[in-house]
Amino acid sequence: MKVDGKHFRSIWRERDGWSVGAIDQRRLPHEFVIARLTSCEDAAVAIRDMLVRGAPLIGATAAYGMALAMREDASDAGLKRAYDTLVVARPTAINLKWALDEMRTALAPIDPLERAEAAYARADEIVEQDVEINRGIAGNGLALIEAIAAKKPGEVVNVLTHCNAGWLATVDWGTATAPIYLAHERGIKVHVWVDETRPRNQGASLTAWELGHHGVPHTVIPDNTGGHLMQHGMVDLAIVGTDRVAANGDVCNKIGTYLKALAAHDNGVPFYVALPSPTIDFAVSDGIRDIPIEQRSGAEVTDMTGRTADGRLETVRIVPEGSPVANYAFDVTPARLVTGLITERGVLKPDRAALAAAFPERIAAA
Ligand code: MRU
Repeated sequence: MKVDGKHFRSIWRERDGWSVGAIDQRRLPHEFVIARLTSCEDAAVAIRDMLVRGAPLIGATAAYGMALAMREDASDAGLKRAYDTLVVARPTAINLKWALDEMRTALAPIDPLERAEAAYARADEIVEQDVEINRGIAGNGLALIEAIAAKKPGEVVNVLTHCNAGWLATVDWGTATAPIYLAHERGIKVHVWVDETRPRNQGASLTAWELGHHGVPHTVIPDNTGGHLMQHGMVDLAIVGTDRVAANGDVCNKIGTYLKALAAHDNGVPFYVALPSPTIDFAVSDGIRDIPIEQRSGAEVTDMTGRTADGRLETVRIVPEGSPVANYAFDVTPARLVTGLITERGVLKPDRAALAAAFPERIAAA
């Protein structure tokens, strides 16, 4: 998507053909900084420290991390080491393991001398596939927005989203934002309510930044605002992303998603989840019970960083010294609260039968 008129993806192969460029998302919205990853360890650290984040982008970064590892050591031991290093970089988004499994399946059977080239080729495919999938999600989600627009001619369609499931969280287009960008391009009047998404504020920092650069009307709201807006008819639909969808349709996403789904249910607001098929984990049959929930540093809760009027970045503490904090990064929304899953193969009911029918090859591999 566009940044100051120039087209960017969130990750790419650099001109040297082997190192990897990525936007350092820790610095947004204050600074647009590009990082260069030159080793498997760089890729692992980028995922762990959230230089890159968002489930599909975590997978893409891991794929390139594997390719970087194959330049260093393409032996069977090197392949195992790279897999083991990357797979633990973050625990919840299943796209990480999916991408690494894809890479290992492609690389394990071939001669180590050919592995580096094959690894870059497979990683490039994973990256291009992500963009294609998101285009599919855009088209399928657009139909939902068009249907609402048709019911209120001339009026704005208000979409609520949580965290950042935009192009920064994927390679391009985003998942939750893909239908919004397409609707905007087609001239449909859309406005996005952007949950700030404490404690790391990916909505306020990243989603607002993306939408702003793309000219999509939006308003950043404190996390607790969605219920009020829904009660007053100010949200036509919610679209969020996800880090892992269980085989039963339960949806794991950024902490606070569940509360939005409850509010949507209570107010009759359609609650959609946009996802690429690599986010489905057919090995998990019950999302609430079995999806591992990342717990992050308490400093994300106690401290806030922002830019001062004179342009400095400053971190301040907002919690009394000594007060314990908890920082669960994700929660699980039960399938019964989800109106539909917007995938590249259509809008599905959130249940095992619909997921299995749409993605039989994934269920066979699980
Ligand atoms: O902790 P993050 O920033 O990686 O969490 C990201 C989210 O929760 C996104 O909504 C999710 O990964 C979907 S991305 C298309």
